[in-house]
Amino acid sequence: MKLIHNPQKLQRLLRKERARGKRVGFVPTMGALHDGHLSLVRAANLENDLTVVSIFVNPTQFGPKEDYLKYPRVIHADKKKLQQAKVDYLFCPSAADMYPEGYATFVEVAPGLTGVLCGKYRPGHFRGVATVVTKLLNIIGVCRLYLGAKDYQQVTILRRVVRDLDMAIQVRMRPTVREKDGLAMSSRNRFLSSAERQRALSISRTLLALKQDLLEKKGTVTALRDQALRQLRKSVDQVQYLEIVDPVTLCSLKQAQRKMAALAACFVGKTRLIDNVTITL
Ligand code: PAJ
Repeated sequence: MKLIHNPQKLQRLLRKERARGKRVGFVPTMGALHDGHLSLVRAANLENDLTVVSIFVNPTQFGPKEDYLKYPRVIHADKKKLQQAKVDYLFCPSAADMYPEGYATFVEVAPGLTGVLCGKYRPGHFRGVATVVTKLLNIIGVCRLYLGAKDYQQVTILRRVVRDLDMAIQVRMRPTVREKDGLAMSSRNRFLSSAERQRALSISRTLLALKQDLLEKKGTVTALRDQALRQLRKSVDQVQYLEIVDPVTLCSLKQAQRKMAALAACFVGKTRLIDNVTITL
């Protein structure tokens, strides 16, 4: 595995690789890697000739009161995992290389997608995500981009960016990887105490029960959503949202339709967790 820090160097190397006919798979991350990230690496390895992983804790996607400084940084352990997973290039740019003095350009996606769900509680977050992923894709060039369904809104927004900006990128969404008990894997899970970890299980359980109820048409979308919300509030400390939406537009639904997504964000203690399920009737 080649470790590259400099964006222009990686750009040059990958141009050469593509000229030799190599297909590139790209997995952007912020590190603190777990099996969710590694499932994206495995998918990239299968479908391409070489896999590029980036580790960059992107300052522009964190709000002023968010955990940018507290975000786990465990580069040594991450390198080992990526080496074992047979990654070809690990790209770790510095914040100064990505956002040099005078940096002024941002990718802004319309508020219909970025001002709802997580975007409502994390203003500017998706602007930061869209900007950094656009920059990373410009550095890496033509590739397949691997994203996790765990961050469903992120995938929806990045698909939009790729289409709207005519990027030669294929987006691949991979399923959420869960712990044995159903908790969605997340680098933030390490902040949970064992009692909080137990309470956090209600997120996936509530969403799965909601999915089952929707499939069995046990009530209207609104009634089932309200019931799930009440259920979730019993176990977690704060529910930011629990919504049933159209999977493409992210508009909240009042009536059932063939394809839906149910998404939730809550706090367990001080830790913010998100999860979602998709439903096809
Ligand atoms: P990060 O949270 O490190 O996640 C990197 C990728 O791993 C994302 O595509 C995310 O959806 C995926 N992922 C995380 N947990 C997962 C799980 N349990 N199962 C499957 N996939 C999972 O998302 C980001 O970083 C950043 O916003 C980034 C896209 C890198 C831009 O900075």
